Amino acid sequence: MCGIIGYVGKKECSRFLVDGLKRLEYRGYDSSGIAISRNDQSNFEVRKAEGKIERLEIALRNSPIQGAIGLGHTRWATHGKPNTINAHPHRAGTTVLVHNGIIENFESIREELLARGASIVSETDSELFGHLVEEELKKTATFEEAVRLSFLKLEGSCSIVVVNDRFPGKIVAVRTGTPLVVSRSQKADGCFVASDAQAIVEHTDEVTYLEPRDLVVCTQSEFKIFPIDKKISPENEIKRSATKLDWKMADFDKAGFPHFMLKEIHEQPRAILDTLDLLIERDTMRARMEEIGALVQRASKIQIIACGTAWHAGLVGKYLLESVARVPVEVDLASEYRYRDPVIDEHTLVLAVSQSGETADTLAALREAKRKGAMTAAICNVRGSSMPREVAATLFTAAGPEIGVASTKAFTTQILVFMMLGQFLAHARGVKTKAPDVHFFLQLPHQVQSALELAPLVQKISESCLQSRGYLYIARGRLFPIALEGALKMKEISYVHAEGYPAGELKHGPIAMVESNMTVVVLAPRDELYEKTMSNLQEVKARGGRIVAVGDHDDFSLQKLSDHFIGMRFAHDWSDSILATIPMQLLAYYTAVLKGTDVDKPRNLAKSVTVE
Ligand code: M6R
Repeated sequence: MCGIIGYVGKKECSRFLVDGLKRLEYRGYDSSGIAISRNDQSNFEVRKAEGKIERLEIALRNSPIQGAIGLGHTRWATHGKPNTINAHPHRAGTTVLVHNGIIENFESIREELLARGASIVSETDSELFGHLVEEELKKTATFEEAVRLSFLKLEGSCSIVVVNDRFPGKIVAVRTGTPLVVSRSQKADGCFVASDAQAIVEHTDEVTYLEPRDLVVCTQSEFKIFPIDKKISPENEIKRSATKLDWKMADFDKAGFPHFMLKEIHEQPRAILDTLDLLIERDTMRARMEEIGALVQRASKIQIIACGTAWHAGLVGKYLLESVARVPVEVDLASEYRYRDPVIDEHTLVLAVSQSGETADTLAALREAKRKGAMTAAICNVRGSSMPREVAATLFTAAGPEIGVASTKAFTTQILVFMMLGQFLAHARGVKTKAPDVHFFLQLPHQVQSALELAPLVQKISESCLQSRGYLYIARGRLFPIALEGALKMKEISYVHAEGYPAGELKHGPIAMVESNMTVVVLAPRDELYEKTMSNLQEVKARGGRIVAVGDHDDFSLQKLSDHFIGMRFAHDWSDSILATIPMQLLAYYTAVLKGTDVDKPRNLAKSVTVE
């Protein structure tokens, strides 16, 4: 989950590295550091700081380093406290490195190195790799071969980028699990390696994604890729094609919003429209889903796997797909799925849902399913990421880069994909259904835009509820996952306790928590379950809970029952889940702002969870 950037070229790179790290900060922000060799010939100097990148910038202002080759790292601590000693880059002798991922056999490597007299400074698993390279360099002529042979001693899933005082002008990087991209930039007159293309988007418009077990050697003029399992020699070089980036620099700007999260909440009408453009053939108004449709036709069941917010989208997907396509759908948290020995055969379609396409648990679950013979597909927001490259078919969301750690526009576009898929399958399978026509989906951006106009009202409600002891989110059916999502948003950015429950479950336990200082957020559009939810709400009212209700704008009964009412124009059952999400996101956002938390980078979290 850490962020890595490296540059070797002709230009002064301190700014490249720091700016790149800022764009990678979503991956972790416990500490950061850079290493630069001043003139290509002198030893690498390292600067590190605990906390966010601004602290590193201060350290660099006090003690600048300049040079045209360097590495940068922003950390999400796994082994050892988030302090300066454990911050990367690590030095061992002449070797300097940054690392992302986990070295699983680090205990035994550490003991062996200590027994051989290595002087280990930090508590990290990462530093150990530098010592292994130093040992290899005593026996091996080339730097890249020493890195390769050292890497073969590691177990686990990681990427490591290494430089060495004795081999100027060269960066060597290796990847097993966690992602790495490489690019030769004309503009910056050099080569970059990074854990995400975001870090280098201002220098290049194309990147090459390294595959697991690739090793890359970068110099100022070129990069060469080799398989980690073969001796490095010209005949073993691998040619990989580059991927064009379709991002704009504006995607990485707050555009006047105080936080990326608020910008991204407001981008949802555009994200939905762009996703519709990807999914609908405008001439024929047909959904472009043949590939995945063919897989579903062969499937006797679908297993959706995902984590966090993407899992909530999967839960909505289950409701939609089962109700219209009549295919049995299971939804699993990927971290559970991979260990529960699920029943999988060649008629099982495993569908991964992920914004990043890199989440370690989801990837591992996907690989496990593939190994057991399942068909695989993905819903993903990042082209070129690992999941789309490993499955038979992908439906892309076009949310654009999501920078805020709290997922917002990725979630609503994932639900949109499920809606479209349900509609496509219903038609393909000839199921008689109340699935809406494709034209209906084209109304969604406007409906979401209207929902966003509720922001000032939701802000006021956040203020009124700010002293709440906790939040209970309740709903039924397709909206139950939205209650879960509302609670997750509240927890992760405002650090307040929040739970999502099916409204019918309230009386089986959680109602015991209801009192005047407990806010109960209810999602209750006038659907087939409305009356049931209203009865549950009466039970809350009778116990003095503070009710925030989201319902139809003209539902005066609900308005009367609630302390705060958010009236919405729900157009069709199918769009409820997207529209009801908007006030959930805003409620969490404004509560977090009022509590003064770091909304875009909440504590202990990282955007892309690439460790198990
Ligand atoms: O990139 P992914 O969609 O696979 O990420 C899954 C979760 O880590 C992610 O949704 C996480 O729960 C978010 N912080 C929620 O806002």
